[in-house]
Amino acid sequence: MAKTNSGIYIHIPFCTIKCFYCDYSSTAGYDEDRLPLFFNSLSKEIEFYKDIAHNFIFDTIFIGGGTPSIINPKYIENIFNVLSINFDLSHATEITLEINPGEVALENLKTLKNIGVNRLSVGVQSFNNKILHFLTRNHKKRDIFRTIENARKSGFENINCDMIYNIPNQNQSTWKKDLTALIDLDIEHISCYSLVVERETELYQLVKSKDIKMPDNDNSCYLYKSAQEILGKKGFFQYEVTSWSKRNFECKHNYHYWNIDPCISFGPSAHGFYNGKRYWNVKNIDKYIDFISNERSPVESSEKLSDKDIANELLGFGIRTIEGLDLTKIPESKKNDVYFSIQNNLKKWGNFLIYCDQQLKLTKNGFLFADAIAVDLMI
Ligand SMILES: C[S@@+](CC[C@H](N)C(=O)[O-])C[C@H]1O[C@@H](n2cnc3c(N)ncnc32)[C@H](O)[C@@H]1O
Ligand code: SF4
Repeated sequence: MAKTNSGIYIHIPFCTIKCFYCDYSSTAGYDEDRLPLFFNSLSKEIEFYKDIAHNFIFDTIFIGGGTPSIINPKYIENIFNVLSINFDLSHATEITLEINPGEVALENLKTLKNIGVNRLSVGVQSFNNKILHFLTRNHKKRDIFRTIENARKSGFENINCDMIYNIPNQNQSTWKKDLTALIDLDIEHISCYSLVVERETELYQLVKSKDIKMPDNDNSCYLYKSAQEILGKKGFFQYEVTSWSKRNFECKHNYHYWNIDPCISFGPSAHGFYNGKRYWNVKNIDKYIDFISNERSPVESSEKLSDKDIANELLGFGIRTIEGLDLTKIPESKKNDVYFSIQNNLKKWGNFLIYCDQQLKLTKNGFLFADAIAVDLMI
């Protein structure tokens, strides 16, 4: 069987504080004394996969969280050593690590660069101190500049900044200022996410109790369109619904998710995919450590994707990218259903959906409705 290009994801579930809108699996603070135990478990989990590793070409590694930058980089180095013993990393050209502004020292950035990390994803979210405070972020505007400066000093030439819009009290002027500040940073990649009110968060409770009112949909659309316009004018190419980059700085790791490529994932709560099967690990860190110290797999559950699941995932993720979905990838048994759905949806979403030469894609305006169109397209 031909080997597929694949990703590796490593979840580090520790943060300095828990942001009130965040439902990623992470704890505020951690016990320094238990870190060796956690990282030993992670190493052992990596070893569990050594027998299947040769089936894949790993060209990306993503260390996410949580906030992996708050951990002493010697742990990350050790994980890379274990990975390189068990996996062939000779094709891994994109190695990303998530950092938070103000939460990583210059020395640590230099070490991360030296051990092979070559892309940073910085959780900027906003440059407005009032908005950062509202978001319960642990950083201020000045920390962003210092962190980017230190990243450049450490030799990083591929930097992404994550931004959030659709935040209560964020008006068009504050968002435009954010975008301008972002452009002035002269980074390579930008991700803009609309604030989602996730169920298991404090924000959800506050919205439910009407203590916080979320902006209306028109406002959110306006902010998204201004990002498209302002970033586009400044040479950022929008290649996915939430992603802009300078040419050749598209995130290869995220393409693995959008293409439904294999991704072997490690760490508590990590979700992976290979051999047509999705799996997810236990969330609880103590349980994760317990399972592994008892030589048991930390996989909580897994599910083999049916042809219908694969078709739906390809539709949902595939249309998010500028290239769109290559319909030849749809399983043979579901092709008719998919073509039928496309014909129906062209009637409803014709201004936003393009179907040509076995390729299905969204227009730039269609990006705004990607989620709704994906739901309608599903078979
Ligand atoms: C794994 S998270 C966090 C990484 C890092 N600890 C940080 O805070 O930036 C990656 C990104 O998801 C986005 N994000 C997290 N929760 C979100 C939410 N509820 N709505 C929209 N975007 C969110 C943020 O932009 C964040 O940078
Ligand atoms: S947004 Fe980032 S820093 Fe905040 S709790 Fe979530 S993972 Fe941690």
